[in-house]
Amino acid sequence: MKDVILWAGAGQIGLAIARRIGYGKKIIVGDKKIENAKAMAEIMNSAGFDVTPIEMDLSSRESILNMITEGQKYGEIAMLISAAGVSPSQAPIETILKVDLYGTAVLLEEVGKVIKEGGVGVHISSQSGWRMPQLGNEADELLATKPTEELLSLDMLKPENIKDTLHAYQMAKRCNEKRVMYEACKWGKKGARLNDIAPGIIVTPLAVDEFNGPRGDFYKNMFAKCPAGRPGTADEVANVAEILMGPAGAFFSGSTILMDGGATASYYYGDLRPEQ
Ligand SMILES: NC(=O)c1ccc[n+]([C@@H]2O[C@H](COP(=O)([O-])OP(=O)(O)OC[C@H]3O[C@@H](n4cnc5c(N)ncnc54)[C@H](O)[C@@H]3O)[C@@H](O)[C@H]2O)c1
Repeated sequence: MKDVILWAGAGQIGLAIARRIGYGKKIIVGDKKIENAKAMAEIMNSAGFDVTPIEMDLSSRESILNMITEGQKYGEIAMLISAAGVSPSQAPIETILKVDLYGTAVLLEEVGKVIKEGGVGVHISSQSGWRMPQLGNEADELLATKPTEELLSLDMLKPENIKDTLHAYQMAKRCNEKRVMYEACKWGKKGARLNDIAPGIIVTPLAVDEFNGPRGDFYKNMFAKCPAGRPGTADEVANVAEILMGPAGAFFSGSTILMDGGATASYYYGDLRPEQ
């Protein structure tokens, strides 16, 4: 038997993290597009890793449970890489909320039930949510603690209260951060840790869809004018994940690390500040 890593979302960020921390462990990679999961498994297995691909739809609890059961065939669940999602240019409002918001909450909840003592998880939210004003204590608490099956019935998430797909994405990512805090308290009871990374623009297929989507100029302007003056890479996200998931990160729990080349800082106080 081996320690098992559950890796949701066979994209570039997940791949960079899995390569960094996955050697010697059994890795189950789940993706709605099984061809993505198979492609990642092939790349990694040819490099000496032990990866099994599986079809997994993050918006379905049954599908998430199926991935967990598959993982448990090989050993105890020791790590979670939560890197599945859809972006504002890739899907309608309902899908973004069902996948990024509800699905993530279910994944963190279900893996929290089976994570072994000393286990670790990292979720990928987004700096996108950081450009949205504070929602207030009451809304934050609902996003953090509402039972998962009731989350999408919250008034603030009703279609009439969501302006567009970007707003849906920002609400999902805000919810992710709060949910990571809430779940980290539960994971902690089992001696396990859960944290979150909120990246800025990272060059991946998802970001390329954004560059070519209706907000393409907005995003290109964002990375050109942020203090770093460029987009980031998936490997840079993996640098942070490696710290959060390893012994150097032992005191991180329920944290969200913003890493966006300074885009949020500039949005509030620099060249990216919107015209008043
Ligand atoms: N790339 C960026 O600029 C950026 C910035 C901030 C946050 N993120 C977040 O990082 C995460 C990973 O994105 P990435 O940039 O690596 O993109 P990516 O396109 O390389 O990978 C995303 C993967 O998620 C999968 N996926 C989509 N819907 C799914 C579902 N319902 N169930 C299971 N899998 C599903 C896709 O098929 C894809 O393989 C996403 O949650 C994204 O919102 C990305």
